[in-house]
Amino acid sequence: MSDNLKRAAAERAAELVTDGMRLGLGTGSTAAHFVAVIGERVRGGLKVVGVPTSEATREQALREGIPLATLDEMPELDLTVDGADELDNDLRLVKGGGGALLREKIVASASARMVVIADGSKRVAKLGKFPLPIEVVPFGLTATERAIVKLLDSLGMKGELRLRHAADGAPYVTDGGHFILDAHLGRIDKPNVLASTLNSIPGVVEHGLFIGLASGAILATGEGLVELGQL
Ligand code: A5P
Repeated sequence: MSDNLKRAAAERAAELVTDGMRLGLGTGSTAAHFVAVIGERVRGGLKVVGVPTSEATREQALREGIPLATLDEMPELDLTVDGADELDNDLRLVKGGGGALLREKIVASASARMVVIADGSKRVAKLGKFPLPIEVVPFGLTATERAIVKLLDSLGMKGELRLRHAADGAPYVTDGGHFILDAHLGRIDKPNVLASTLNSIPGVVEHGLFIGLASGAILATGEGLVELGQL
């Protein structure tokens, strides 16, 4: 998607922001446009406080001059705007392609509203083509991996788990010090069941299925912006 389309979705999302709001700031290339737009508005006098969902976003927001707080200092947020790797027609999401899923999910859960901004091509009839990121504790990685495979088997799902690596060839480490297993599933027929059962495996910290969190979405397409749900 061109930067212009991402920027258009970010600008539409920024229209939802008013003085005094406590904002969750998402992660990824689309969310970065939103942070940039909010930065411009802050420099123009807008009064908001942001909680970033990653170290990368925190650094960008600081450069933009957006006042920041931790989620502990400000545990209830009005609005989170974030990207997504996939979304279906029920606004269920797959997130974590950028590795920030844990903080993204904690921040979205603490928000009264979450609005997704994304390329229209990320809208799918069925989730799962994009590999599902599963954040796991490094200790006992192999045992956790086996438990996930067993769980997938019990749900009649086949797929390969691949440990995510960084550019230097070492395992990718999240902001929380964990690893990510990308589950190549092809399709997820029952996202709600998979989401709740994955959380029952001890070594699993969190996964990229975001269900019941997004209230609305702004999708950028070649024909313009498409809005879903409640913004
Ligand atoms: C970050 O961990 C992800 O959840 C991102 O929100 C997702 O990867 C979308 O990124 P883009 O906006 O760069 O496509």
